[in-house]
Amino acid sequence: MDKFIEGKRSIKGCIDVPGDKSISHRAVILGGIAHGISNIAGLSTSQDVKSTIEAMRKIGIPIYEKYGKTVIEGNGVTGFEQKKKHAPVELYCRNSGTTARLLTGLLSGACFPARLTGDSSLMKRPMNRVVEPLGEIGARVTSNDGYLPVDISEGTLVPFEYRVPVASAQVKTALIFAALFIGGTSIVTESKETRDHTERMLVLMDGDIKNKHLIQGKSIIISGRKELTPLDITIPGDISSAVFFIASALVSPSSEIILQNVLLNRTRAHILEVFKRMGGDIKVELRGDFPEPLGNIRVKSSCLKGTTVGGVEIPLIIDEIPALASAACFAKGDTVVRGASELRVKESNRIKGIVDMVRGFGGKIEELEDGFIISGKKHPVPAQIESQGDHRLAMAASIIALNVKGKTTIKNAHCVDISFPGYFDVLESVSV
Ligand code: S3P
Repeated sequence: MDKFIEGKRSIKGCIDVPGDKSISHRAVILGGIAHGISNIAGLSTSQDVKSTIEAMRKIGIPIYEKYGKTVIEGNGVTGFEQKKKHAPVELYCRNSGTTARLLTGLLSGACFPARLTGDSSLMKRPMNRVVEPLGEIGARVTSNDGYLPVDISEGTLVPFEYRVPVASAQVKTALIFAALFIGGTSIVTESKETRDHTERMLVLMDGDIKNKHLIQGKSIIISGRKELTPLDITIPGDISSAVFFIASALVSPSSEIILQNVLLNRTRAHILEVFKRMGGDIKVELRGDFPEPLGNIRVKSSCLKGTTVGGVEIPLIIDEIPALASAACFAKGDTVVRGASELRVKESNRIKGIVDMVRGFGGKIEELEDGFIISGKKHPVPAQIESQGDHRLAMAASIIALNVKGKTTIKNAHCVDISFPGYFDVLESVSV
């Protein structure tokens, strides 16, 4: 499906965005190993989270809708003991790296025989970052030369200490999930802070988990084989989806938008600080703090100026960089993104995708190995943009498209369903 967007429009209104995708994956998986029945409101409707739900059902966890909530009949950590001996199940993770990495950790820990596969994009994404450390601690898990398919069979896992070499919440979480099945205390250390939803959810579920903050990063100390209390939560709106409306409102003239009940966790909402530093008129009203901070975000059109992001900031804005790039096209001066080579192994090579997108609209961008430099305030022109099947690139292109005179085509735009089904309808409803 191609999407046509007519520019020059403003953004006005008040919207909710779908439930946070990262928290939803974790709620489905941890709900599945909790001891009892979990009730989740506001679960993400994304295709990625559907992939996790389908995989969990396939390993025998009942998941269904009741009275507008998602009900998960947890198996219990020890309940997996009986499941070790059957023939391997094949789990298709579609486009979802989070499904593949998190389930590799969970199933390795539970010694649940399985084969994980994915679509052509996911089959090209690195799996060694989880397969190698899990192998070192006694899991029987193999990859296809560092990629999917990944095969898991019964291993003998021992308590471990592991320092995660890439700043990745997926790797951290995969190891924490494995540790939940290991008798004894394991320690996972990250040197750059990444999203902490797993840790927060395990605290809520009475898991035996402690966070030890270090000068750089933190250690998570987990004692396994403890049964977890089921979840009863409402998932806040996804800041990584909200960001496309935030960026659109900042750069489109005469705009004002309110995004309601959005996740404001510091490890995810840092993009708001970056936009404020660029001169963005953004006001946040905190409306809750536990287990995750959430609130309303009011954004008005602003005259942005360029900024530099890098180092410890990158993991905190990793999924928002495509939207930042689009906003940077309208900022005065240069916006520099460095230390973000991880973008090259996302759903597509996002550095290349951003470079092609900005150039497609007639903007000025220099490609760096680990980022890019955008020289803003040129007048973009309508374009034909190839989404490369990458949801965040398709939505990032719509920010620029709304702001150029004329009609832009976004090719293969249906990929937005991966994180935000109905994105273009919501965008249309607030574009005037
Ligand atoms: C995610 C972590 C990040 C992020 C991805 C979701 C998660 O990936 O880019 O969209 O839910 O843990 P990495 O862990 O690979 O950095």
